[in-house]
Amino acid sequence: MRNTPSTNPDDPPFHWSDALLLGHGAMDVTHREFVDLVAALSRAEDGRLAGLLDAFIAHTEEHFSAEDRWMVQSAFPATDCHRDEHAAVLATVHTARRKLAQGDATLCRRVVSELIRWFPAHVEQLDSALAQWLCKRQHAAVPLVLRRGVTRSAFVAPRSHAPYRPGSAEAASPGPGITLPNPGDWHGAGEPE
Ligand SMILES: [Fe+2]
Ligand SMILES: [Fe+2]
Repeated sequence: MRNTPSTNPDDPPFHWSDALLLGHGAMDVTHREFVDLVAALSRAEDGRLAGLLDAFIAHTEEHFSAEDRWMVQSAFPATDCHRDEHAAVLATVHTARRKLAQGDATLCRRVVSELIRWFPAHVEQLDSALAQWLCKRQHAAVPLVLRRGVTRSAFVAPRSHAPYRPGSAEAASPGPGITLPNPGDWHGAGEPE
C-alpha cells in the first residue's frame, strides 16, 4: 500500500458549492457532510483512508436510509430507482472497504473519484426531485433556494421525470455537462470478489 499524497490529478476540485443546495434543510446539511467527507478522502494518504472511509460509510448509511425512509413515507413516485442507486453505491463502497482491509487501496481510490463525479448529478436529478416533493407536501410550495456565488448556467434545473437508472440510455446521455457513471461498473477497478 502506498503512502503518498493521494489526490487523483484527473479529479475535478471537490468542495461544497451552493449549486448543490436544494432548499430542504436536513438534506442540505447532510449533503454538506457528504462533500466534506469525500473531499477528505480525496486528499488523504493511504494511512488515513480506513478511518475516513469508515466515517464516510457511517454517514452514507444514515444519509441514504433517511432519504429512503422519506420516500416510502411520502409515497414518492420515483422511489425504486433512487433507492436502487443508493444501494448500488453503498455496496460498492463496502467492497472498497473490504479491499482496503486486505491492503489494496486501488478500489477505494477509484470509488472516491467516481463519487466526486456521481454526487452532483445524483443531487441534481434525484435528490432535488425528492426535496421538491417533500416541500410541496409539507408546505404546499416548492423550496426557495438562494445560491451564493452560483451563476444561472452553473446549475441545470432538474428534470422532474428523468430519474437516473444505472446502465440506461438516460445514464449514457444524461445531458450537457453532466457525467453519470454507472455505480455497478465501479467494481471493475478492483479484483473480482
Ligand atoms: Fe442525498
Ligand atoms: Fe439520494
